Amino acid sequence: MSNVNLQEVHDFLILVAKKAGHMITSAKPTTSSSGEKKNSVDLVTETDQAVEKMVTESVKEKYPDFQFMGEETYKPGDRLTSAPTFIVDPIDGTTNFCHGYPYVSISLGLAIDLKPVVGIVYNPFTGTLYSGILGQGSFLTDQFHDHVRLPLKDPEPLSGLDKAQIAVEWGSDRSGNDYDVKVNTFRKLCASKEDGGAMVHSLRSLGSAALNLCAVASGHIDIYWEAGCWAWDVCAGWVILTEAGGEIVDANKGNWKPRIDDRRYLAVRKGHGQKEIVEEFWNNVQGKLEVGL
Ligand code: IPD
Repeated sequence: MSNVNLQEVHDFLILVAKKAGHMITSAKPTTSSSGEKKNSVDLVTETDQAVEKMVTESVKEKYPDFQFMGEETYKPGDRLTSAPTFIVDPIDGTTNFCHGYPYVSISLGLAIDLKPVVGIVYNPFTGTLYSGILGQGSFLTDQFHDHVRLPLKDPEPLSGLDKAQIAVEWGSDRSGNDYDVKVNTFRKLCASKEDGGAMVHSLRSLGSAALNLCAVASGHIDIYWEAGCWAWDVCAGWVILTEAGGEIVDANKGNWKPRIDDRRYLAVRKGHGQKEIVEEFWNNVQGKLEVGL
C-alpha cells in the first residue's frame, strides 16, 4: 500500500467526480425510459452506463495496473482481491435520479488489501463533495463549507436508540427472509416502549447508501442500517465515515469487523457510547439477515 500516492488518487478522483457530475446533471432521465436489472425496482439508466464507461476509461488510463469493480460492469462471481481496486458506483441513488429527487451521488472508492483507503462521494445536484483518505481525515465542501473536517460538530454522546435518528433502506428485494427481517426491525425500532419498541426519534429512507454514510460521518444521522447493498455503494463512504470517527459493523449481531463486500452494514457516527448503541441496535434486529452469508 505504501507506494500508492493516496493524495494523488484522491485529487484525481475529485476531477473524475466533477466530470461525471456534468454528465449526471445534464441528463434527462425518466422513470419510463429507465431499464430494469433484477426486477422492476432495480433501475439502470443510460447515464449510469455512460458515467461508468467514462470513469473506467479515465482510471485505466491513469492507473493501468489497478483493478476495477463497478456496479454496471460487475458480473456474478467477480471477487475483490487485495490488489489496489477502484470500487465505483456511477450513480448511487438511481431511483432518485429517475424521479428527479436530488439525493444522488457518484461514489468513487479505492481499496487496497480489501480495506477502503480513499473515498469521494459527490452530489452534483447540490454541489456537495465529501472526501476522505485513510489516516488523513474526511472533509466536506459545499456552498456553506470549504473543506471542513467531519464530523461537523462536537458529537453528543450516543445515549440510546430512543434519542437516535436512523437511516434505513428498503432495497430492491421485496420478499423473503431478509425483507421480513427488515420490515419487522423497522416496526420494532419505531414502536412505542409500551409496545416493546425502541421508539427511535425517526427512520429516514433517502435512497443513496453513499450519502447515508456521509450523513453519519457528518453527524446528521446517528445510525445507518442496511442489508443488500454492495461494495460500490459503501467503499467511498466507508473511508469518509471511519475517518470521521464512525464505525461500521455487521448488520447482523456479533460481527464487529465486516468485509467491504459482506453486503450487511451497520454504521454509527462518532460519539461516546458507540459500542453500547451497536449492541442495543443488534438486540432490536428481528431475525438474521442472509444476504452475503
Ligand atoms: C442503491 C442505493 C440505495 C440502496 C440500494 C442500492 P443504486 O444503489 O444505495 O440506497 O438501498 O441497496 O443498491 O442502485 O442507486 O446505485
